[in-house]
Amino acid sequence: MVYSIIYKAVFELEEKGLGFIGAGNMAGAIINGIVGTKTFPAQKIYVYDINTEKSEALKKKAGIQSVPSLDELVKNCSILFLAVKPQNFSEVLADLKPFVNDRILFVSIAAGISTSYITRELGCNCPVIRTMPNTPLLVGKGATAMCKTANVADEDFQLVQSLFAACGTVTVLDEKQMNAVISVNSSSPAYVYLFAKAMMDSAVKQGIDAATALELICQTFEGSAEMLRQPGLTPESLIKMVSSPGGTTLKALDVFYAHHFEGIVDEAMKACTKRAEELGK
Ligand SMILES: NC(=O)c1ccc[n+]([C@@H]2O[C@H](COP(=O)([O-])OP(=O)(O)OC[C@H]3O[C@@H](n4cnc5c(N)ncnc54)[C@H](OP(=O)(O)O)[C@@H]3O)[C@@H](O)[C@H]2O)c1
Repeated sequence: MVYSIIYKAVFELEEKGLGFIGAGNMAGAIINGIVGTKTFPAQKIYVYDINTEKSEALKKKAGIQSVPSLDELVKNCSILFLAVKPQNFSEVLADLKPFVNDRILFVSIAAGISTSYITRELGCNCPVIRTMPNTPLLVGKGATAMCKTANVADEDFQLVQSLFAACGTVTVLDEKQMNAVISVNSSSPAYVYLFAKAMMDSAVKQGIDAATALELICQTFEGSAEMLRQPGLTPESLIKMVSSPGGTTLKALDVFYAHHFEGIVDEAMKACTKRAEELGK
């Protein structure tokens, strides 16, 4: 009979900590969320970055530990976040390879990088959680999607979910959806900002100052998102609710439809997913 033992990284957290490779924007957002909500003790969070200025700055800001090498990070941590750009993965995984063992849980936040790529490059059967967070994590309003390999213990998956839940919502998906979801929650804040900018620029042309327009736009986005969450309401029914016959909204919508707005969004989101697939190759 073959016994499969799923190692639980969470049990080692009494002694060890959470490690981050890369101290950039996303690592900073996640760490600040975890520390700000006291979900995990700051003194047990370790960060390593090739650029020591960044790890030292994060250490100062969040009260965490900064270490000078990957070796040191692995010694201190049972869970390691891979928070570098997808383009740096191959180099980071090669540098990590000599230090890893199957007991370390890896949490990747990278676009396009599959769990099988990570275990293959590390040459280990390590448990891996693949996540796709977004920058609103910085203000506690993130939306993170995640999946896991079969050998991730339930306790570990719950712990990692709670770390991301400290700064937003968490949605569990299948790995085959993880490239497409980037276009839905992760790159999408940029589409929202582009839409906000276009609205603000038009408002200015129509005589409303930028700051006043932006505040009205933000409140409208927040209110509209809340309406979309109400039971029984759909994007279509809400569009109808605003579109009185012969009124102003329909005139605006006519322009959007004439320029194939939905087709443009579809094309943009598919281009995003295609790039994620390329990054994973
Ligand atoms: N930004 C987003 O909206 C977003 C959303 C979801 C997921 N993500 C994912 O999050 C990951 C990080 O993105 P980010 O925006 O936080 O990037 P970032 O700000 O550039 O941070 C990455 C950090 O890793 C450092 N680094 C590079 N090579 C390294 C190495 N070999 N060892 C240790 N550190 C190294 C970089 O240093 P240098 O600057 O000196 O190169 C940089 O400080 C990416 O994989 C991205 O796909 C980003």
